Order: sequence, then C-alpha cells, then structure tokens
Amino acid sequence: MSNPSEAELIHMFKGIPFTTRSSPELLKALDTFDAREDDVLLVSYPKSGTHWLAGVITKLYNTQVTLTSPIEFGDITKLEELNKLSTKRIIPTHLDYNMLPTNFKNKKCKMIYISRNPKDIAVSMYHYYRDNPNLPTIDTWTAFFDLFLKGDVVCGSWFDHFLSWEEHENDKNILFLFYEDMKKDLPKIVKEISLFLGLNISDNDIQDICMKSSFSEMKIDTEKENSDPSHTVCALTSNRKLIFRKGTVGDWKNHFTPKQNRRFEEIFNEKMKLSKM
Ligand code: A3P
Repeated sequence: MSNPSEAELIHMFKGIPFTTRSSPELLKALDTFDAREDDVLLVSYPKSGTHWLAGVITKLYNTQVTLTSPIEFGDITKLEELNKLSTKRIIPTHLDYNMLPTNFKNKKCKMIYISRNPKDIAVSMYHYYRDNPNLPTIDTWTAFFDLFLKGDVVCGSWFDHFLSWEEHENDKNILFLFYEDMKKDLPKIVKEISLFLGLNISDNDIQDICMKSSFSEMKIDTEKENSDPSHTVCALTSNRKLIFRKGTVGDWKNHFTPKQNRRFEEIFNEKMKLSKM
C-alpha cells in the first residue's frame, strides 16, 4: 500500500496545519465548548514535554482525575465525551491562545504552559515525523528544518504559538514552565506546580513523584502498556512508544549545521524581539 498523501493527513484550519485526526467540525465547535471552573489545561507546542508534565500532574492528585486526550483531537463526538465526564478533567491541548475555547478564559481555568528550547523541539519533531505514519513523509533533516522555520508543520509556527501564550504569562491562572528547568531541578518544579494547583504535597511524596516521572521509568511504563488511543496526550499519535525518544537537553547540537544554527538564531532574534525569552 502506498503512503497516504499529505492531503489525507493534513488540513488547514484558521491558517494552521492540523492532522486529519482533528476534524474540522470539532475545531469549529471548540468555540462553544463548555468549560468547568475546575478544569486544568495542560498546554504545549508538540514535543515540549507534554507527556512528562502530564505524568507529573496526574501523580499529584490523590482524588480521581481524568487525563483526557487533547481537546482538539477526534471528531465532533469528542465534546460530548468530555461533557459526560464526572471527574475533574485535566485537558491537554496544542492550540495557540487565540484558538483556545473562550469559556476556559472566561472561567479563568488553571492552565500550565510548558515550553522548551525550540531547537530541541525541531529535532524531536523531526524524529517524530519520521516515525509516525500519521504525519507526512520527511526525507531529510534539512528539508524538515526549513519546514519548521516556516511554520509549515503540524500546529503551525513554534514562534506564533509561544508568543500567543507568552502574552498571558502574567495572568494569575497561567503557570509558565520550561522543560530545561524540569531537567535541572524536577522537585522544585513539582513543588511549584503543586502550589499552583492548590495541592498540599509532602516533600517525600514529591521525591516519589519525581522518581516515578524520570525518563527511564516513564519509558518502561509505556512499553508495558498496550497502545490505547484514548491514553495519549498528544493529538498526533496513539502510539505512546514514539514519545520517549531521548529525553535530553541540547540534542540539537547533533543535528544543526553551523549554518543552520546561524539561520535559526537570525529568525529567532527577529521573531522574538518583543519576547522576554
Ligand atoms: P526527545 O524527542 O527530545 O527525546 P511531548 O510529550 O510534548 O511530545 O514531548 C516529547 C519529548 O519529551 C521527547 O523529547 C521525550 O523524550 C521527552 N520526554 C518525555 N518524557 C520525559 C521525561 N520523563 N523526562 C525527560 N524528557 C521526557
């Protein structure tokens, strides 16, 4: 069987490329989504550490919570499914701030945004594209590098995504986190998350959560479980095994040529000139 064409895998919605696993009807209906005050949103551009953060957050609760699949993932029945959930909902999303259902904003739901060095995101996404049959075929790193810089990849431009959220960095209901900080001092960040969520977690429990959320532990856990499409927190695959690749900081240095690095920095400096990053 031949590979599916790009048109079968990707469609554009409001100028942003989405996989066909996010139906246009669902994307249109998001505007009217009924949020609940106690919903927690887990927001990221793909490959920023979404699963890692989701692993940490779900371990923080000792009451029953449901980690849903991303709000933009699936068909129109998705919204009904979410409405039916009786437990507290932890809802991941890769949407940029402008596309986020207004109700989450009006109800001031808690949102945690995780970001990562975009150079490492580009590399992580490149490998993800190569291994994931739900995404268009990519021939070379060089070709992917160009697509990434143009924002011609799923979820659009990293720069636009980050900037749309960074504008709200000081909103009281939004916590901004960085993958690199989690790598450096996970217990500190887990403490920060627990305070933000209003949870009282002992230092011992924090240590335990950090141990269970290490890259190796999470990778082993995933290898043990069967692939379940409702289990993923990424809208781009139902195969969780694709997520845990290397889990390091700075892998970009193994991929970027000096020329690519210069070009990336130029574009970064231009696009991010108003950013505090
Ligand atoms: P790499 O491809 O660089 O290894 P997302 O969950 O947003 O798709 O992000 C996936 C990236 O997070 C992958 O990066 C993956 O290895 C990394 N990751 C997942 N769990 C991790 C963990 N427990 N510790 C560190 N990195 C983790």
